[in-house]
Amino acid sequence: MTSDGTKRTDEPVTGRADASVGVSEQLRQKHLWMPYSQMKTALPAVEIVSTLGVFLQTADGRRLIDAISCWWTACHGHRHPHLVSAVADQLKTMPHVMLGGIQHPQAKRLAARLAQLLPGDLNHVFFSDSGSVAVEVALKIAKQYWLNQGESARNHFVCFQHAYHGDTTGAMSVCDPVDSMHAHFKGFLLKQFPRPIPQTEQEFAEFSQFLRHHRHELAGVIIEPLVQGAAGMKFHSAGQLRELAERVRAERLLLIADEIATGFGRTGTMFACDQAEIVPDLICLGKGLTGGMLPLAATVATTEVFSQFYSDDPDHALMHGPTYMGNALACAAANASIDLFEKEPRLEQARRIAEWGEERLGRLRSHPRVRQLRCLGALVVVEIDCEPGLKPVVPRYIEKGVWARPLRNTLYLAPPFVISWPQLEQCADALQWVLDNLP
Ligand SMILES: Cc1ncc(COP(=O)(O)O)c(C=O)c1O
Repeated sequence: MTSDGTKRTDEPVTGRADASVGVSEQLRQKHLWMPYSQMKTALPAVEIVSTLGVFLQTADGRRLIDAISCWWTACHGHRHPHLVSAVADQLKTMPHVMLGGIQHPQAKRLAARLAQLLPGDLNHVFFSDSGSVAVEVALKIAKQYWLNQGESARNHFVCFQHAYHGDTTGAMSVCDPVDSMHAHFKGFLLKQFPRPIPQTEQEFAEFSQFLRHHRHELAGVIIEPLVQGAAGMKFHSAGQLRELAERVRAERLLLIADEIATGFGRTGTMFACDQAEIVPDLICLGKGLTGGMLPLAATVATTEVFSQFYSDDPDHALMHGPTYMGNALACAAANASIDLFEKEPRLEQARRIAEWGEERLGRLRSHPRVRQLRCLGALVVVEIDCEPGLKPVVPRYIEKGVWARPLRNTLYLAPPFVISWPQLEQCADALQWVLDNLP
């Protein structure tokens, strides 16, 4: 406790959260509809009452290492004091104002800093409140980019097999149409052109030919650079990404890089695009943007894209504006998160996790259930011979004091970049325990 009786932010909380007082466990379970879950058969959710650093504190008194950074958000660990105080300070003056017609310093500062951090002339930042919406905005901007130039038939996108771009309908339409959780929405979604990510010279030639053939009806191409996350952490090389970007440019189409998962250091560079030395026309950011503090996302456009909206014609304006866009608390958190990237060796920490993974988990390559081990930045992926689902995996991790979930046929670690070696060792032991007990 501090002298004024308030709790210090660095004290772990061990009791039950106040939110549970007066409401029975049964009622609480009944009303909260959980994501990606068959509510009838899902494992009971683990109740978390506080977080600190790499740890999640459970209501029943356990401390779990968050080996997946709460869906890749908490890159500095949870409740980092610099982020907490930035948000607390902002809370004292202005939690939120609409961004329509008025602005605030945190949003302006954040937009300017993102423009500085991003490669090339990605200079124009449009805020939203989730990654899926950032993708929607990117698709809409790309479509309108052509519309504003009098080209109204460019209504479709090339997307990729195994892609995942979010859960709203536009974003769903550019996910893998066959092998994805959204596959059964087929008739409901916009028509797009899914393709394999080209690898060989021949495949690149076919890709170019495809773009050329459909050019008149295409607005652009959307890709998760370097890592297709939700499909089971599939990697492609920086060389492939660069070649792909060149092919898209050669056909004068827009390239959208969805860096919602890869952005902010996860692949070992600030953005995955940096490794391929490419500048997409639009980039989507989310997840790590606020360091796991608050929901915020952004779609950032190049000067060329923005210039097609900048005119005397009111119809050329981008008609989009989420109510909470550029929320001041979230922008304060994001500004503080960028401070930490500037002041602390985050990218180096992220890269060292891949080195650790190769060395420590490399020996798992000979495990009978392991198909492949691949590491990139703060991402260690163990591909296995089955899709075990959550039930045989999550409780085993918890037994070993780790919070992680399998994804399709992979067990993976995407920890906060600040995780220590002993904590990583604990994650490795837990992963091995899961592996040895797969059904
Ligand atoms: C690559 C990618 N795009 C988009 C999204 C959607 O982001 P959100 O869950 O914030 O809507 C995700 C989420 O996992 C993602 O990994």
